[in-house]
Amino acid sequence: MAVISLQDVRKVYAGNVEAVKGVSLTIENGEFIVLVGPSGCGKSTLLRMVAGLEEITSGTVQIGGSVVNKVEPADRDIAMVFQNYALYPHMSVYDNMAYGLKNRGMDRDEIANRVRIAANKLEIAEYLDRKPRALSGGQRQRVAMGRAIVREPKAFLFDEPLSNLDAKLRVQMRLEIKKLQKSLGTTSLYVTHDQLEAMTLADRLVVLNGGVVEQIGTPIEVYEKPQSTFVASFIGSPAMNFLPVTNVGTHWRLQQGSGLRVHFDTDVNELTLGVRPEDFTIANGPQSDEALSASLLVSAVELVGAESFVHGTLGETGPEIIVRVHGKAGYVAGETLALTASYEKLHFFDTKTGKCLKVSPSRAIA
Ligand SMILES: Nc1ncnc2c1ncn2[C@@H]1O[C@H](COP(=O)(O)OP(=O)(O)O)[C@@H](O)[C@H]1O
Ligand SMILES: [Mg+2]
Repeated sequence: MAVISLQDVRKVYAGNVEAVKGVSLTIENGEFIVLVGPSGCGKSTLLRMVAGLEEITSGTVQIGGSVVNKVEPADRDIAMVFQNYALYPHMSVYDNMAYGLKNRGMDRDEIANRVRIAANKLEIAEYLDRKPRALSGGQRQRVAMGRAIVREPKAFLFDEPLSNLDAKLRVQMRLEIKKLQKSLGTTSLYVTHDQLEAMTLADRLVVLNGGVVEQIGTPIEVYEKPQSTFVASFIGSPAMNFLPVTNVGTHWRLQQGSGLRVHFDTDVNELTLGVRPEDFTIANGPQSDEALSASLLVSAVELVGAESFVHGTLGETGPEIIVRVHGKAGYVAGETLALTASYEKLHFFDTKTGKCLKVSPSRAIA
């Protein structure tokens, strides 16, 4: 186990591609950090710099208190698990798992012992004699994990390890990785573009956008208090709705709807209001003062099992929004519904910077 610490880490590739633009981050002992963001945002680059597979343009990476910028990957005492498994096709499962230990000159019995324990843990003990080609994708991924575990490294680095698996297996392996990491207590940095994987696995999430950290926090913090429109729209599915609001001189109000009357201490020229799909209530009866109200013209209803997504436009001409309701929603296209949302559930962003705004204490409700 070890603390991994990054200070102002940058990466500029040849051709002036600035892939990572100054990332600072500390991964505590035994912590499971998930680096999440869209394709091309610099996740793999950052992970590879921690692993030593990519040179660091500037900044420092520390593992267990020592700067490792110039330390060879093999000497960093970390194990990496890749999306494509990177197994040796001509070696048996046993040899794939044992290879790194043999290279280190470890005693045969100790190797056999470690492989046996890891294989039992991963439920691949019966495949130890097989070649990787005789295994399913999920089994190959287990072997790749086994190879990482037997080394008993200071840290695990995962780069989209589940992306090649089908949806059902991904959910199963996700749970297993989480349990395994907790039982081993090994500091882990895990990269994924899948926000749900990130939410379910992470002790803390790091949301990366264009090589810059947008937000660091526990999954629930990031979900409930997104610090930018980027984070708000990236984390959560269906994504947060964004509603246009207008400055009417003394305060802001909703363009299609009523009940919003908010003042800000800071100067804001353009405001974006965010509401998560589940934070709307389809109202029947009078609405309270503590809510904004609007109307939804239904365009489609999707039943996704235990819940339904009601799609439509805000008012007749407003933007498209999605409302999430429990169970089967009996609404039909063309119907108009009254929506409410309570003030605690509203998110405000400065449209120009995308940054979250704090509602001032002088907030007044119409
Ligand atoms: N070897 C390389 N040379 C030049 N540009 C690269 C190289 N590797 C990655 N990039 C660029 O750096 C950016 C980040 O890439 P990457 O870290 O692979 O993103 P992610 O893993 O988040 O999808 C992308 O714009 C990508 O095209
Ligand atoms: Mg990548």
